[in-house]
Amino acid sequence: MLESVQDAVNRIDQDRLWGRLMQMAQIGEIPNNGVNRPALSADDIRARRLLIDWARGRGFGIAVDPIGNLFIRRAGIDRAAAPVMAGSHMDSQPCGGRFDGIYGVIAALEALEAIEAAGVKTKHPIEIVAWTNEEGGRFQPCTMGSAVYTGERRLEDCLEVSDNEGIRLGDALAKTLAATPEAESRKLRSPVAAYVEAHIEQGPLLERAGKTIGAVTGIQGLRWFNIEVFGETAHAGTTPLALRKDAMRDAIAVINAIAELARDASDVTRFTVGRMLVTPNSPNSIASHVLFSVDLRHPDPAIVRRLGDSVEPLARSAAKACAVKITPTLHDDPCVFDASIVDAIEGAARALDLPHMRLPSGASHDANYLARVCPAGMIFVPCEKGISHNEAENAKPEDLAAGARVLVATLLDLANR
Ligand code: GLV
Ligand code: MN
Ligand code: MN
Repeated sequence: MLESVQDAVNRIDQDRLWGRLMQMAQIGEIPNNGVNRPALSADDIRARRLLIDWARGRGFGIAVDPIGNLFIRRAGIDRAAAPVMAGSHMDSQPCGGRFDGIYGVIAALEALEAIEAAGVKTKHPIEIVAWTNEEGGRFQPCTMGSAVYTGERRLEDCLEVSDNEGIRLGDALAKTLAATPEAESRKLRSPVAAYVEAHIEQGPLLERAGKTIGAVTGIQGLRWFNIEVFGETAHAGTTPLALRKDAMRDAIAVINAIAELARDASDVTRFTVGRMLVTPNSPNSIASHVLFSVDLRHPDPAIVRRLGDSVEPLARSAAKACAVKITPTLHDDPCVFDASIVDAIEGAARALDLPHMRLPSGASHDANYLARVCPAGMIFVPCEKGISHNEAENAKPEDLAAGARVLVATLLDLANR
């Protein structure tokens, strides 16, 4: 490893990294060490402000694009070169933890500061990015900021999405953008030379294998749907079952039919209904309307396609009394990360003498969309018992710092190609 790279790696400050993660965890803090920081909320704005304050302390440039993706830039020698990017997201699940997403952003800041402190010049600029609405907990679907940035989703469609309270994403976004007036405007689809995302694994493989670093090979495929069931409200005590248009009963029938479709003896297929809105939502009124989400995942694109294509016909035949409406909101084929990035991450882990392995990602990430426009990859670090999307999410400060060291070495490798 070059002396200058080693110097930058040595400047990763584990205590500063951990301290910042804990400071960020106070923004949207919930009981049991959890975090609830919905996309484009007041707490998301607070997190953005804090990140900008840290970045400005170092003199880095700040930019924001029309969907609110936030960029922090350290200039390169070649003014015309596209940036090498590293980052993740700052929004969380409603009952989220302290590391999902925010680790990739804070690790990227730590890497940029270490590179700056070591005075290492790079050909390409290096940018930190915080993608808007990765989680999709408030506004569906997930990975929206990166999808819009890379041209895979239309900004205009996203602006019209509403949250459970009926707030338009476009209105929440306008407030968020107004809160960072110092940021320059960045065009969507601006070129990216390469993208690296550090993240907790969110699964148990690294911990079980006793490895500190995962060089991620790809991400499994994913399809999302919103299914609506239209019934008729009536009195729970007086309306004979045979006369009901019970939206809840049909919703349950549809869910059971999809669960049957997704049954898999090898336990590779993933099927989740994680969101349900019931109207009028009263114990003694029959449900007139039920909206629920469907999340289906598999590493094989043909299986992802087959499962997703079966949802609509299945739902129509399972709902006996009510009309149904099926709205597909996301279809991501499995992604395979560029071999040059996987090799660069693995090479950095080897050079730093860190126990490492290759592994696929079960969770989805913004790297999925970046991989469509530039060589992209991910660095995983272990999390306790593989727990994520849960307040109990936990990771060791030394593993998080090791991931940041691998990120420094990988970024310096890519930014000088
Ligand atoms: C991202 O959080 C996912 O749903 O995989
Ligand atoms: Mn995440
Ligand atoms: Mn997540």
